[in-house]
Amino acid sequence: MCGIIGYVGARPCKELVLKGLEHLEYRGYDSAGMVLVSDAGLDRARAVGPVKALRAVSDAVSATATVGMGHTRWATHGLVEERNAHPFLSEDSRFGVLMNGIFENYIELRAEVTAAGHTLSSDTDTEALVHLLEDEYDGDLAETVRRLYPRLEGHFAFLVVCRDEPDRIIGARLAWPPLVVGRGDGETFLASFTPAFLEETRSIQIVEEGEIVIATADNVEFRAVTDGSVREHPIEQADESLEVAAKGGYETFMLKEIHEQPTAIADTIAERFHHGELHLDGIGLTDDELRAMNRVLIVGCGTALHAGLVGRYLIEEWGGVATEADVASEWRYRNGVFDPKTLVIAISQSGETADTLAAMQIARERGARVVAVTNIMGSAVARAADGVLYTRAGLEIGVAASKTFTSQVTLMTLLALHLGAVRGNLTTQQVAEIGNELRSLPDLVQRVLDDKAMDAQLDMLADRFCHDRFFLYLGRHLGLPICQEGALKLKEISYIPTDAYAAGEMKHGPIALLGDDTPVVAVATDSHVFEKMASNLEEVRARGAHVIAVGTEGNTAIAQHAEHVLYVPRTRPELQPILAVLPLQMLAYKIAGRLGLDVDRPRNLAKTVTVE
Ligand code: M6R
Repeated sequence: MCGIIGYVGARPCKELVLKGLEHLEYRGYDSAGMVLVSDAGLDRARAVGPVKALRAVSDAVSATATVGMGHTRWATHGLVEERNAHPFLSEDSRFGVLMNGIFENYIELRAEVTAAGHTLSSDTDTEALVHLLEDEYDGDLAETVRRLYPRLEGHFAFLVVCRDEPDRIIGARLAWPPLVVGRGDGETFLASFTPAFLEETRSIQIVEEGEIVIATADNVEFRAVTDGSVREHPIEQADESLEVAAKGGYETFMLKEIHEQPTAIADTIAERFHHGELHLDGIGLTDDELRAMNRVLIVGCGTALHAGLVGRYLIEEWGGVATEADVASEWRYRNGVFDPKTLVIAISQSGETADTLAAMQIARERGARVVAVTNIMGSAVARAADGVLYTRAGLEIGVAASKTFTSQVTLMTLLALHLGAVRGNLTTQQVAEIGNELRSLPDLVQRVLDDKAMDAQLDMLADRFCHDRFFLYLGRHLGLPICQEGALKLKEISYIPTDAYAAGEMKHGPIALLGDDTPVVAVATDSHVFEKMASNLEEVRARGAHVIAVGTEGNTAIAQHAEHVLYVPRTRPELQPILAVLPLQMLAYKIAGRLGLDVDRPRNLAKTVTVE
């Protein structure tokens, strides 16, 4: 959840560290800090808030130092205050430490260093490490870190520097928090994610879990923490694009990413059709194995789970196999029953979500086959699975997921189609027909995004409802996960309380919330449950609430049941979710804008959630 960057080379590195942090800010923006190794010792600057706050105080640190590291924080232990901002220094300013992750045994570690006579300056778990280093250092920083490593429980990637070894940064990794090395000409970068240094080098090496990395300007050495043996890792070329990290003329990343959806969906589909035939290369299971599956479990968190819920309906419909979808953080603590005929699909755009990873590991231990759906190549989720299916959404910076959601839904649609084909539930002709309709979806998505009349209507709705205290979202069948996604979008970027409910369940409780000041957003596109939705909307209107419905072009019947209708183009009902979510994304976006909020960096959130 935090972002870390380190540089060792010949160039003054203050600006490189700051720029790296700006690229990592999506991972957390509660505070930022940096420490540079200067001739005078360790120079530190820290500030509460985003990286620009750190930039404003960065005159305090050396302009000539060529070794340094920085951190952008999503708070776990300790309030959002400068004293809890990384990096932490030892009392004698000899050692500096910063970390992404958690020391789960931090209470014992803090007690231990306090008992040893240290005064803790923060409430964090990380600070204990800097004092342990101070006590244990024997003239070899890398070996000291390796010796300390077994005493650190949890999951982390951390970097340390020492005034006595000013030419190097030592890193270490346990479990999933990522750490990647960038190899330049006479310089080395370390970071949570490659965009932090992509302007400088594309040559990368991955620090594996259970490893220490020793980075100097001209050399990088990887050592196993267990016995200190040296490990070799190939240098690979990063494939992320730099342009994606810029707003490209849009006022926010989220708006840019909403508008990138036609391309993201098209790219996700494109690589799956060869000469018109559907292929799911990379799935990691043979057709025979897929035919033998008698159960599917989908796990994910937040938006990824909503994509999974859409997938659940489609896999049951086309694949003809019992399918369940659950919140990864809940499922992992259930005593899930498994056998090798259970297919687990884990969805995570970042590929780092701790609960999703843990669920995958448990599933594999219990004998299930696991397929990952992720947007990040080589991510932890990708590496922990039997097979990987990549969404091709490109880097998503806005904390609120948009293009990754529709890409995940697209991929789940392809997966359901594939299961339908191999399990003999769909004929070749049906697969071809659905495939053709799927391939025309990016054009329909573009039409919705270009629809000026809808845009004006959304502006009007945002003006009218932005000060309301609560929104209820109602849907049935495939419309329900779209409502859940729409409700999540609105609450996370506008901070307006929302609830998303199965429309048929409304009368069992939520109806008590309705009054003439309640906007009710309904997904009521054409489907076999349209009439049922219409009846539920009448129940809503009878309580004086205001219905904003998403309907299908050409079906004006919905207008009799709603005050406002946002029409999306017609496609087959199974593909409607991708179109129906678009006005809900835009409604949330416009309401947050009316309230003057930072949609790219909503409070308390982070783009990657590597804590449980
Ligand atoms: O990276 P992941 O897909 O695993 O992330 C899961 C959730 O944290 C994420 O979808 C979150 O709910 C987003 N903020 C939603 O917009």
